[in-house]
Amino acid sequence: MCGIVGCILKNNENVAPILFKCISNLEYRGYDSIGLATYDNKINVKKAKGKIKEVNDELNFENMAGKYGIAHTRWASAGRPTDENAHPHLDDTGRIAVVHNGTLENYTELKNKLIEEGRSFESSTDTEVIPHLIRKYVDEGLDLEHALRKTIEDLKGSYAIVAISQDEVGKIVATRKDSPLSLGFGKNGYYVASDSPAILEYARDVIRPKEGEIAILTEDGIVIHDEDDNGVKRKPTKITWTADMARKEGYEYFMLKEINEQPLAVKNTLGQKNNVKKIIEEIGEVKRICFVACGTSYHASITGKYLIESLAGIPCDVVIASEFKYTAKTWNEETLMVFISQSGETADSLTALRYAKETSHTLAIVNVAGSAMWEEADYVIQTQAGPEIGVAATKTYLAQLTAIYLLAGTISKNDEIIDQLNEVPKYIEEAVAKSDEIKALSKRYNFVHNAFYLGRGFSYPIALEGALKLKEITYVHAEGYAAGELKHGPLALINEDMPVIVVIPPGDDYNKTLVNLEEVKARGASVLAVGSEGNEDLKSKSKEMISINPKVPDILAPLVYTVPLQLLAYYVTVDKGFNPDQPKNLAKVITV
Ligand code: F6R
Repeated sequence: MCGIVGCILKNNENVAPILFKCISNLEYRGYDSIGLATYDNKINVKKAKGKIKEVNDELNFENMAGKYGIAHTRWASAGRPTDENAHPHLDDTGRIAVVHNGTLENYTELKNKLIEEGRSFESSTDTEVIPHLIRKYVDEGLDLEHALRKTIEDLKGSYAIVAISQDEVGKIVATRKDSPLSLGFGKNGYYVASDSPAILEYARDVIRPKEGEIAILTEDGIVIHDEDDNGVKRKPTKITWTADMARKEGYEYFMLKEINEQPLAVKNTLGQKNNVKKIIEEIGEVKRICFVACGTSYHASITGKYLIESLAGIPCDVVIASEFKYTAKTWNEETLMVFISQSGETADSLTALRYAKETSHTLAIVNVAGSAMWEEADYVIQTQAGPEIGVAATKTYLAQLTAIYLLAGTISKNDEIIDQLNEVPKYIEEAVAKSDEIKALSKRYNFVHNAFYLGRGFSYPIALEGALKLKEITYVHAEGYAAGELKHGPLALINEDMPVIVVIPPGDDYNKTLVNLEEVKARGASVLAVGSEGNEDLKSKSKEMISINPKVPDILAPLVYTVPLQLLAYYVTVDKGFNPDQPKNLAKVITV
């Protein structure tokens, strides 16, 4: 959730401007506070609560001296967002500086013990125990690397840790468990970062250290030691994403850029067709499928269930990853477990994947190469959305759906659906072109406090996703419902103040959804219909309507009808003066 960067330069330039640039690239991982520590004859630290730009205006990170250092952007877990809780954290001699991502389950116990031993704490974070423990083991005679190794023996929980010490000049040490960390080999120096997009401009050859390994970065290179202190040799992976892909390129916000990139994300993901075919051939007969995911990726999974059951007739379950543990363990070696995640790092999904691996084939649909799920699943379909910076998933969602359609089409040997997919980028482009119309419409949604989204069949997950987009970036309470379910309770909430967005493409379910639309209208709701262009009857029955090309087949609706709902959420957010890229309390990668 927090972002981490460390860098040591080969030359004698100051590292701070590079560290600052890299950590700014990670603002999507957390934006409660920011801090840097560099070494220049001693460890210097600047840190404060606030957004990166505001804090930099105040503290001017870029003028810090020193050729190596560490940086952090925080998403508060233990301890409120305050200056004291900002990283880096120091031991009580100020000679060891640490940045950390993750959560330590036993920090209270460790902290109490360290206090009893006479060490004093300045923050209420879990992280601060780490520099104190390192100090304790250094005082016992260990060097920085081994003090870090001993420290992690004491820790329970998840962590990516990067540390420097004034007593071991020219060295950065790093380690991880259940939290991402990549080592980067650049022309100008060596890097460590919680996400490789942070360092793309400087280093695109990366290695992900395995759990329990310790990486030591010096100006001469990176050395990795395993748990038994043996040197580890591993070939770096080349990241194909470029730094340009992660820039706004004239758009006001990343989210709008990413919505506009959706036709390309889908087109590029269609290029995975042969890979999907190969995976299914290797797995052989699939008797049952279980999708596991969180949030938006969970909505993609529901589409997957409907598709696979209807096209292939294979029973299919969908489980929210954090609930996976509580489901009956009825899967076996004939079950294909599919894990969907844009980041490939989501803790709940990763835990479920590790568990499922013991019995079943595991397939990960992920966007980030080299991520934990990408590395650990038996099979991978990499969605080709490119880097997504906006916290709200948009292009990665449509890319996930594309991969799911390829999977369903391949398993069911339904070439027709795979052929139809080729038309989808064009339909998405047309939907994105409704931007101005939706922007105008959004003005009428600025003052609403609640909203309902309804859909049936393939449109049900579209309704869920539309509601999630609205609530997460506009902070308006929104509910996505299966249209037929409304009368079983929530209809009681419908009145003149409740806008209802009805996703109603043409097709077998049209008439049934229309009945639901009339039901809410009869209770005074103002209805925004997302339906097929030229449907005058629908238009006359709704207060507003967003029209989609009537040629979009019902079964492909999730790939196209989602787009106006993303745009609606985006424009309401911007009108309200909020930043859609960085919704409060959220982060792009949920590693806890
Ligand atoms: C919402 C959103 C989240 C993620 C969820 C899972 O816009 O992005 O709901 O979908 O946190 O994340 P991943 O897909 O990385 O596993």
